[in-house]
Amino acid sequence: MVKNHAVAINPLYWMKQVGGNFMYGWLKYPFVLGSDLAGEVVGVGASVSRFKVGDRVIGQAVGMDKKRNRSAEGAFQEYTVLLAHMAAPIPDSLAYERAAVLPLGLSTAACGLFEKDQLALNHPSANPKPTGKTLLIWGGSTSVGSSAIQLAVAAGYEVITTCLPRNFDYVKKLGASQAFDYNSPTVVSDISKAFQGKTSAGALAIGQGSTEACLDILPACQGNKFVSIASFPIDFQQFTQGLPILQFLRQVPKIVGFIVSMLFKARTRRIGTNFIFGTTLMNNEVSQLIYADFLPRALAEGQFVATPAPHVIGKHLGFLQAALDAQRQGVSAQKVVVSL
Ligand SMILES: NC(=O)c1ccc[n+]([C@@H]2O[C@H](COP(=O)([O-])OP(=O)(O)OC[C@H]3O[C@@H](n4cnc5c(N)ncnc54)[C@H](OP(=O)(O)O)[C@@H]3O)[C@@H](O)[C@H]2O)c1
Repeated sequence: MVKNHAVAINPLYWMKQVGGNFMYGWLKYPFVLGSDLAGEVVGVGASVSRFKVGDRVIGQAVGMDKKRNRSAEGAFQEYTVLLAHMAAPIPDSLAYERAAVLPLGLSTAACGLFEKDQLALNHPSANPKPTGKTLLIWGGSTSVGSSAIQLAVAAGYEVITTCLPRNFDYVKKLGASQAFDYNSPTVVSDISKAFQGKTSAGALAIGQGSTEACLDILPACQGNKFVSIASFPIDFQQFTQGLPILQFLRQVPKIVGFIVSMLFKARTRRIGTNFIFGTTLMNNEVSQLIYADFLPRALAEGQFVATPAPHVIGKHLGFLQAALDAQRQGVSAQKVVVSL
């Protein structure tokens, strides 16, 4: 059990607020949302040996997962029960507000990159051996993308990514070799050219429009043709006041169009696809890989940094709604955080 000192906001929570039962329909009000936390261990279960009372940790709270469905495991409260294998110690020099930006984005990236039914890349290590392969990460300046770039580089891959030009330096500092503006009308052909002579490790698709673009780029590439998809094509930004069912029905043509087009392109172009669900790692070896084997050492040695930068909205649980609203209004290479 952790006493929370900082929690971070993911788009999922305001999507649940506006989408009602169309998002995570198994979560019924009242429920404690929240996945990302940083804090201090105040109690450990009898079988837990990796942690002791007083340790500074981050963790991905998994109470919102369908199989857990448990408010005690939600982050938006003062104390949260974590699964020990979904938590990691953090260095003393790392502020809780900075550390809290990581968990769900990191886990989602790790699921897409390393799970066996996703891109199944080599694992990250302290001294990565170059694989000679290049990964496309569409949406590198998102929280998910910021972790994905660092993990892929630490696993020995070259990374080509997309973001707005103002974030080109940011993604390159994280290790991307090239960055492209996802709004450019020539972005698909520009990235296809950048892949010439390279061997593809596949693509991680993050953000609206990312899957379609990756499915257009991969056919011309040599190597792995697989897209791990982080973003579902419902645009919850379009949800306004009113019944969620009416808002949802308005998006049905777009969703059906996306699925038909995705299946058609994937099948005719022989590209594998799979949707990511950012809690599946708790049931496989990827949680151990990330939270025990890689992250504690990589954070301590500076090989992996907690990013994007936190934007702290306030210091009290009462700031959560303002924080959700701020996330919904949009962030750029930032993570909205509430300090406790
Ligand atoms: N499947 C899962 O389990 C799972 C888990 C977590 C998140 N997600 C999804 O992953 C996506 C990213 O989540 P997040 O928390 O990482 O987001 P985030 O950090 O809040 O995303 C903000 C960033 O999105 C970028 N962006 C905006 N529109 C984009 C587009 N069309 N293509 C690429 N990038 C775009 C912006 O980059 P610029 O400022 O450079 O434009 C901004 O930095 C969301 O769609 C979220 O729903 C899925």
